[in-house]
Amino acid sequence: MRDAAPVSTPPRVLPPNDPRQYDDLADEWWRPDGAFAMLHWLARARADLVPPAGRPDALLVDLGCGAGLLAPHLTGKGYRHVGVDLTRSALAQAAAHGVRVVNGNATAVPLADGCADVVAAGELLEHVPDWRRVVAEAARLLRPGGLLVLDTLNDTLLSRVVAVHIGERLPTVPRGIHDPRLFVDAGELVAECARHGIDLRLRGVRPQVRGTLAWLARRARGGAGPVTGADPRIVPTWSTAVLYQGRGRRQG
Ligand SMILES: C[S@@+](CC[C@H](N)C(=O)[O-])C[C@H]1O[C@@H](n2cnc3c(N)ncnc32)[C@H](O)[C@@H]1O
Repeated sequence: MRDAAPVSTPPRVLPPNDPRQYDDLADEWWRPDGAFAMLHWLARARADLVPPAGRPDALLVDLGCGAGLLAPHLTGKGYRHVGVDLTRSALAQAAAHGVRVVNGNATAVPLADGCADVVAAGELLEHVPDWRRVVAEAARLLRPGGLLVLDTLNDTLLSRVVAVHIGERLPTVPRGIHDPRLFVDAGELVAECARHGIDLRLRGVRPQVRGTLAWLARRARGGAGPVTGADPRIVPTWSTAVLYQGRGRRQG
């Protein structure tokens, strides 16, 4: 009798933005040449917006922290880093990287009003059905004078083309991770933050072209190597039409 051929389970196909994708991709978070590579580059650029803590015991609340990719870039800045996320498999990795983790929804965070010196929301708003509730929650968590830093994708045709139709065909972004119907209109975000007393300033950003091409070429040759200072930089660009950062303080 012939041995039965081994049966391999095909990867399950989930709807766009289904949070279970993060469980399926759990092994990718900290792989330097993995599907979340660009999140590492963005985390460094986000951390550059965060000044050193202005007081002992300052708290940074990282909404939608994922596997804690921001953590290494905050080293030496003096914050207690608390991460909030829905995905337990990601939080386990964040905890292993020194983040104090809270399993919960960024729209209803079990932390006290005004507890945070900094709230970060990196690549989160474009994954949440009601991003306005996340903004309200960030404002509630921030102490007067506290800082909000974020990055997200704009709700434009160009953003759909670049981030989904092109980006998700490259190895730097998982395919199907975005639902473009959730992308965040930059003007509406600024207005919503203003309603909550946060003076949000935006700037467009993009990955460096040469650095990204070199990274893709390295990866095609068999590996991009460890996450290093040589990874592509996220740099300012003239337009917020695709990817943008926001930084603003809550009025005192
Ligand atoms: C694209 S990842 C970004 C992760 C991290 N901020 C980073 O830049 O590496 C989006 C993360 O948001 C989380 N997430 C999505 N919706 C959420 C919600 N309503 N509340 C908390 N976390 C959420 C997902 O589980 C995932 O870890």
